[in-house]
Amino acid sequence: MNILLLGSGAREHAMATKISQSTRCSQLFIAPGNAGTTNCAVNVNLNIDDFDAIGKFVVDNDISMVVVGPEAPLVAGIADFFANSPKLHNVMLIGPSADGARLEGSKDFAKQFMQRHNIPTAAYATFSKQNIKEGFKYLETLNPPYVLKADGLAAGKGVLILNDIDEARNELHLMLDEAKFGDASNNVVIEQFLKGIELSVFVLTDGKHYKILPSAKDYKRIGEGDTGLNTGGMGSVSPVAFADKQFMQKVEQRIVAPTVKGLAKEGINYKGFIFIGLMAVKADDGTLDPYVIEYNVRMGDPETESVFPRIKSDIVELFTATWEGELNHASLDVDERTAACVMLVANGYPEKYHKGDPISGLEEIKESLIFHAGTKKDDHGAIITNGGRVLCVTSLDTTLPGALLKSLQAADKIKWKGRYYRHDIGQDLLKLSIS
Ligand code: AMP
Ligand code: GLY
Repeated sequence: MNILLLGSGAREHAMATKISQSTRCSQLFIAPGNAGTTNCAVNVNLNIDDFDAIGKFVVDNDISMVVVGPEAPLVAGIADFFANSPKLHNVMLIGPSADGARLEGSKDFAKQFMQRHNIPTAAYATFSKQNIKEGFKYLETLNPPYVLKADGLAAGKGVLILNDIDEARNELHLMLDEAKFGDASNNVVIEQFLKGIELSVFVLTDGKHYKILPSAKDYKRIGEGDTGLNTGGMGSVSPVAFADKQFMQKVEQRIVAPTVKGLAKEGINYKGFIFIGLMAVKADDGTLDPYVIEYNVRMGDPETESVFPRIKSDIVELFTATWEGELNHASLDVDERTAACVMLVANGYPEKYHKGDPISGLEEIKESLIFHAGTKKDDHGAIITNGGRVLCVTSLDTTLPGALLKSLQAADKIKWKGRYYRHDIGQDLLKLSIS
């Protein structure tokens, strides 16, 4: 079949690589893609928010399956657009309907959903401009640090963690009274701070059955030792050793199963990925308990770059089973090895950075996978930088140190003026103790 993948990052390059390896895939298109995706797909210049244009392309090119990478088209209702179109409703669209996408699109909806279905998460309350005074009072009932979250999508910037109550009050005022994050902060969720270590768990669901994909951990800050500004992700590893069988059983019983059941019970049509951001918190008996920090309705970036290379099963078969509601009959085989991804970024990122620098050394990488993010080809076909996060290197090995070493050695060979990467991805997991 012909398949269209929407997106342009390293996440989509990792997905495109996997999809293109399927015996069921005749031709893979990616919109808009990047310089790397041309190796395994045909790049198409389409705006992924223009559903009419996407629908026309799908019909014109006999596309049978559309896989949605980022959340924005899902929150804007691409699944509903396809479902309601006589020409498109049989196309297998992998991604939830807009009401399902509210799990990511509205923090308040997600929190209420978890409360309705008894899914462990931090205690919280939601406030608007009208009851901001109650918000100030609620802050006084909490211990620092204070966690403030804009209800809507705020390009990953809508969560503030503050140590000082006056600062927390001021930020609440800015979000609600001064629209600090525009409409996204019309409502603000204030929640209890959870102390622990984060990880990401991914689920593929057909709305009734599910498969739990390999766990992963991402590294968000620009600086080594997890310092400095937040980024779109500087690296990831999969699996996460502390997410052992006992912990994953708790995740499945307390979180994954009730989430999928809850969606079905609420009549929400959900065929796609659920990304569950978890905090592992030490319980009184010394074991780890999972709490949901957030839901996303897509795969993670850069987690996909370490999770997808570990999936051995045919991903298009899994997607087909997802569409058909038959995931219980599909199998998911996972590579036992560890994957480590290191992201190479432009000098200055996540603030101001330069684009258009020629990249060298890519052809020297033999043992690792390279997934492009912000790259493009210049007029002579040479690959140049075209974004802050430029490309990532993923390596597999029987051990985490082995995978990290391979990725760091490969990262060192890839060069452009001012390229930067973190050398400490995964190191925290090697000396982990949770208190
Ligand atoms: P979110 O956008 O909800 O993922 O939040 C961004 C980041 O803020 C998360 O990845 C966590 O590191 C942190 N965070 C969010 N909620 C909490 C919480 N309740 N307790 C501790 N950290 C949190
Ligand atoms: N890695 C976090 C995210 O994709 O949102």
